[in-house]
Amino acid sequence: MSKSLIILDTTLRDGEQAPGVLMSPNEKLIIARKLELMKVNIIEAGFAASSVADFKSIKNISAAVKNCTICSLARANKSDIELAAEALKPASRSRIHTFIATSEIHIRNKLRTTPEHVYEAAKTAVRFARKYTDDVEFSPEDCSRSNISFLSSLLECVINEGANTINITDTVGIETPGSFGSLVKRIKENIPNSDKATFSVHCHNDLGLAVANTLAGIKQGGAKQVECTVNGIGERSGNAPLEEVVMALNTKRQFFGMSSQVDTKQILSLSNLVAKYSDLRIQPTKPIVGQNAFAHASGIHQDGILKCRETYEIMNAKDIGWKKNRIVLGKLSGSNAFKYKLKELNVRLNRSRIIELFHSFKHLASLHKKITNSELNILTSTNHSISNKTTNLAHFYLCYSIKHGSYSRTTFTLPNGKCLSSEAFNQSSLSSIANCINSFHSLEAQLKTYSCLLKEQVFITNIVIKKIRLEQTEVTIKTKDIIQAFTNAYSTVLNKCI
Ligand code: KIV
Ligand code: ZN
Repeated sequence: MSKSLIILDTTLRDGEQAPGVLMSPNEKLIIARKLELMKVNIIEAGFAASSVADFKSIKNISAAVKNCTICSLARANKSDIELAAEALKPASRSRIHTFIATSEIHIRNKLRTTPEHVYEAAKTAVRFARKYTDDVEFSPEDCSRSNISFLSSLLECVINEGANTINITDTVGIETPGSFGSLVKRIKENIPNSDKATFSVHCHNDLGLAVANTLAGIKQGGAKQVECTVNGIGERSGNAPLEEVVMALNTKRQFFGMSSQVDTKQILSLSNLVAKYSDLRIQPTKPIVGQNAFAHASGIHQDGILKCRETYEIMNAKDIGWKKNRIVLGKLSGSNAFKYKLKELNVRLNRSRIIELFHSFKHLASLHKKITNSELNILTSTNHSISNKTTNLAHFYLCYSIKHGSYSRTTFTLPNGKCLSSEAFNQSSLSSIANCINSFHSLEAQLKTYSCLLKEQVFITNIVIKKIRLEQTEVTIKTKDIIQAFTNAYSTVLNKCI
């Protein structure tokens, strides 16, 4: 059986540090409740001393969420720790997470102090935090750029003072998997009392390596806690995304010998919630939760997937909360995918009709990036050529009154001699003809713009139709009658499209 990894979610603290993100206390509470439902172990609910709103939010969440440990960040000073402890009072399990920078560049340029002072501040802070809770986490900020012997003696000291979680941070995202994994391992080996603490990893994504580094911290370094955010939101390029870490561990459970207790089926809804509240959209190719993560567009892949899902999928979309994977029709799609889509849309056609339609589909797909279900419906539901049916305008009647507006009646004669008529109210003459033609063919098309120009006794008609994505088409009709010219041009344009 694989051991359980501790997941600390810091979406509400480090995640909210992403530029432009501001979540309301209510939104934070909704996210916290969802994290609880999903069995995340620890929720870093905020940084109590950073604002009144953060303080209140931590307090709210501490009162409402009872099945997770609630954590507040605090700088290594008494007043931050007091505020964190106060905000966490209603929690059934609370953690104070105190930190101070340990790298030379931070100590000298940001804190403008000495390593000796940092050492003392860390020691005093942990001792002080332990007065409020027996669950104290210590983070050496910018750990990955810190002097290892200074770091080791400081960490030994804070463990002696009662820090039971030590968080190895890659604050600036400079690490690579090999170097970070061995850093965590080396730190643990250097500290004589390292077995008295749980080691955690906290990776930023500046080089796009946050997940890889986190996993190396577990596999190579022996970390038992990971810190992550939903959708990877956070400072600059963000943090390690929770969904990617959790699914990597689940998918390669044997390799890591560790997994989390997170209910993965709720990952997608959690991700959508965070995307909505943070106002940070998810790119389509994002692993696990991106729109394309389980979508297949190329013929070879589609064929493989339809025969055996595992040919191109290492995870089941349903395990993450997707309804199912997706076959997307486009220029590279093959006949197998086309038939599959028709079946999905409940369209039953004979073989020769499918072959015929597949050719029309390939033509349409060569012009457009992807073919939607409604376009496919239009393609399959149009059984006959538009022009056969509706170029033969028999009668167009329009009457207009200032009081009642306009009324029109359009009639076409079919090749078999029968007539088709349609009425319209309060539409311009030409758009009532267009709508009439659409209705005869059950098309959702909509006339967007048109212009008819008489040039040397011939109408040049320019038509743009919405919905079926037909670009502007210019049709030359040899008639002096604008109504006839428009009717013929509109039918021709529709015909071309279909
Ligand atoms: O990135 C970082 O170093 C942090 C610490 C405060 C834990 O977020
Ligand atoms: Zn961070």
